[in-house]
Amino acid sequence: MLIKEQVLYVLEKEKDNIVTGGNLAKRLGVSRTAIWKAVNALRDDGNKIESFPNSGYMLVDFGDNLIKRSIDEHLTGNFMGRNMEILKSTHSTNQHLKGLDITNLNEGYTIIADEQTGGRGRMGKKFFSPLREGIYMSILLKPSMGPHETQFLTVCAAVAVAEAIEDLCNAKMNIKWVNDIYYKGKKVCGILTEASLLAEVQSVEYVVLGIGINTGRVPHEVEGIATSLKEAGCNEGIRNRLIAEILNRLENIYIDYTVNNNKKRIISAYEQRLFIKDKKIVMHDTKGDYSATVLGINDEGGLIIRNEQGETKVIISGEIKEIKE
Ligand code: BTN
Repeated sequence: MLIKEQVLYVLEKEKDNIVTGGNLAKRLGVSRTAIWKAVNALRDDGNKIESFPNSGYMLVDFGDNLIKRSIDEHLTGNFMGRNMEILKSTHSTNQHLKGLDITNLNEGYTIIADEQTGGRGRMGKKFFSPLREGIYMSILLKPSMGPHETQFLTVCAAVAVAEAIEDLCNAKMNIKWVNDIYYKGKKVCGILTEASLLAEVQSVEYVVLGIGINTGRVPHEVEGIATSLKEAGCNEGIRNRLIAEILNRLENIYIDYTVNNNKKRIISAYEQRLFIKDKKIVMHDTKGDYSATVLGINDEGGLIIRNEQGETKVIISGEIKEIKE
């Protein structure tokens, strides 16, 4: 771990206390100059660290810094998040991960950024990702499956995120098929699953699971349609703990799906939160716009609907344009 990450971890743990440069140097087994350099690097990253002459350093704006060690100490799984990189800013964590040498990365490799300058959503939409106001993370998966099975990974991720938030924030989350998590009628999280295919064998080479959660101020561009965990009453300073909780739950759910082929619990957890279930919607897909009633999801993550002619259909891709009643 970098010295600056260790310094940040100690300052965060000490919260309101002043920690001397000498104490930090001793605890981390490095020189005071190395501490001084690390503090400056942390300041450059946007952390507010005060210096007190002849006494030491104190983290002023503690509470919601992304800290690798604070995430690590809450991880319980074997591979999700066990290799992780935290970036101050990137275009898009999905894009960043796809640009790495994927063959040499382990499954569960995770990229987290404090800000995205070009965050992307489904259907070419933007995902506004202001500095420190959200969790923007991408996880590398290497499942042995066909392309049509990857949609269910979005279902897995939606359940992991919804359950993790509910557990830590004590607020009930809803899911809008296929990839959005809602709180009180407004979007709080979006999931973008991107698969790379091995064309010759029609199987998946890897999948990048991108999760974006608004945790702080709602981006003004989406005010009115989006909300955040802050508005859901979640404690500030939750990001590290929540990231770990999502990774832990995702690992269990992912194993249930890919190893145990036990989708029942996952589908049931998803449908319990599927607030459009039994509702009339307007669906938008390649056939245009049409009304239907939502019945649930099938075991590939497709949306089961009944159209106005009374026929039952499964929708694999498309978007819910309107929720009627
Ligand atoms: C959607 O709302 O349609 C999906 C939004 C997904 C956003 C996340 S944030 C981390 C990852 N990087 C991206 O560029 N997108 C995903």
